[in-house]
Amino acid sequence: MAHTSTPRERRVTKAVIPAAGLGTRFLPASKATPKEMLPVVDKPAIQYVVEEAVAADLTDVLLVTGRNKRALEDHFDRNYELEELLSRRGDLERLEKVRASSQLAMVHYVRQGDPKGLGHAVLCAEPHVGDQPFAVLLGDDLIDPRDPLLPRMMDVQKRYGGSVVALMEVDPEQIHLYGCAAVKPVAGEGDDVVQVTGLVEKPPPGQAPSTFAVIGRYVLSPAIFPALARTRADPRGEIQLTDALCELAQRHDDGGPVHGVVFTGRRYDTGDRDAYLRATVQLACERADIGPGFRAWLKEFSAELG
Ligand code: G1P
Repeated sequence: MAHTSTPRERRVTKAVIPAAGLGTRFLPASKATPKEMLPVVDKPAIQYVVEEAVAADLTDVLLVTGRNKRALEDHFDRNYELEELLSRRGDLERLEKVRASSQLAMVHYVRQGDPKGLGHAVLCAEPHVGDQPFAVLLGDDLIDPRDPLLPRMMDVQKRYGGSVVALMEVDPEQIHLYGCAAVKPVAGEGDDVVQVTGLVEKPPPGQAPSTFAVIGRYVLSPAIFPALARTRADPRGEIQLTDALCELAQRHDDGGPVHGVVFTGRRYDTGDRDAYLRATVQLACERADIGPGFRAWLKEFSAELG
């Protein structure tokens, strides 16, 4: 293929959202429903993530799905019966809620046949993404729309080319739950931009190179695809995105560099039951409609708990 521009010059227009995980932490709720469809207050978690992509002008969204993709497809499609019923009843508020998810973005689907990990899910996006930088958003992390992260990452990618990962400082006892980045400062940048010199997926206690955790937002160079194709599966049979990114971070030719944007805004983790419950409570408290009533109840309830 002949190219007239380098990846650095091309604008990011596509978002890839892996949604093929088995969701075993949420069984039995995730037995017949993708965990991405579990409601956080009253919206499926995945809708927050698609809304975030759209707010960053990424209206071409690819969901990498697995089994149970039907509910995801239905959620981002029209539901004529329901729309017809609500419109006959004159219930415009609910009609708007039903329509919103189908009008958000151009949503595409690709199926990840084998559950071979996040790196493999991203590799499944190659035919759709082609030879341009693209964003990856993981559904377990919700970013508060008041603290935009992706636009900042896309700025950094435009300036330096290569790839950009979102980082967050976590407690040392938490770092083994994440990909962890070794970093160095970048001359002329503020504290929120660093260069990534290495990455380790879920480092064992005491072996983490820093307390910078990779949170689930990436702007990736298309050079990630050949790097992923070369990446060997880990002992669990999973191809790690972190390993392929580590290779790009350490290469000095076309594939790199890898920068990190250090996020200090509000992030809600929905990855396991505890975190999911906390995210639901936090977001319910923030809501203009149900927030005031819910907060009042929560205060009383906490007092009862003592
Ligand atoms: C994935 C990535 C990990 C990253 C995390 C962020 O792990 O592999 O590098 O830190 O998402 O949420 P998972 O949580 O899917 O095991």
